[in-house]
Amino acid sequence: MHLSLRQLRVFEAVARHLSYTRAAEELHLSQPAVSMQVRQLEDAIGLPLFERLGKRILLTQAGEEVHHYGQTIDRSLCEMEEVMESLKGVNSGRLQVAVASTVNYFAPRLLAVFQRRYPGITLKLVVTNREELVHLLDGNAVDLVLMGLPPKTVEVESEVFMDNPLVVVAPPDHPLAEARRIPMSRLAEEVFVMREEGSGTRQAMERFFAERDLSIRHGMQMTRNEAVKQAVRSGLGLSVVSLHTIELELETQRLVILDVDGFPDRRHWYLVYRRGKRLSPAAKAFREFVIAEAARIATPTLFATQSEPSA
Ligand code: PGA
Repeated sequence: MHLSLRQLRVFEAVARHLSYTRAAEELHLSQPAVSMQVRQLEDAIGLPLFERLGKRILLTQAGEEVHHYGQTIDRSLCEMEEVMESLKGVNSGRLQVAVASTVNYFAPRLLAVFQRRYPGITLKLVVTNREELVHLLDGNAVDLVLMGLPPKTVEVESEVFMDNPLVVVAPPDHPLAEARRIPMSRLAEEVFVMREEGSGTRQAMERFFAERDLSIRHGMQMTRNEAVKQAVRSGLGLSVVSLHTIELELETQRLVILDVDGFPDRRHWYLVYRRGKRLSPAAKAFREFVIAEAARIATPTLFATQSEPSA
């Protein structure tokens, strides 16, 4: 029997839709091309696979059988593909990771360790804000995403891999720098330097204040964490930032964490990917690596003492 996989695939689409037109649309083929593939398959088999009932088409008994075996062949092919991928091994292929701009303060450390372990993997890193990450996930444009909160608008799988404490920062000479147990309500008197709309940090900060019925006095708006920190240092206002973004400023005492009631706001970092996405061996290896080791690699020892402002 001389039949091809292509004929079976075209037949499968027609059988699923029971429509030549919709199968043609799905396969980006013309309708005559679809009809021709089905006719050739019928010739090769020697039996009709569809019958007409007015405007509708139905599978004949032979058609039902071919459909059943076609699906079995397709499953076997998928399995074969997976097995071949795993035989190629983890240490090959490309891996596209996208991270929130805030995650980028520790992402390079993670990638460096991972790359040393798997030098054969070609890594591509995209750094952007939360809103863009959601677009990338929606468009299936990257393998894995590291971000502050999984999106609700795209179906994803997500796993927590690390704590992400948000803290209130100020310049060292700020009047509240030495104060202890500052009440949240006191923050209403301060101006805040804000990240842009679309930033996960900004979203978390707004939610935190809204949940406590406090309004934020918006100061300047900046699209980058670095700019926010500079603005706070220059006395343009306080800000709420991820502890992971201020490692250097704490070390060099250019910024201080204010001891505000309710802070640190304990959030988490998530590893996220599109639901149903088949992860390559390289992506699976990165996922396992992040879940098992990110917290140890990415959290500087300094944070152990700084994450809990003293009472
Ligand atoms: P962003 O990242 O503020 O840079 O968007 C943090 C997050 O995803 O929550």
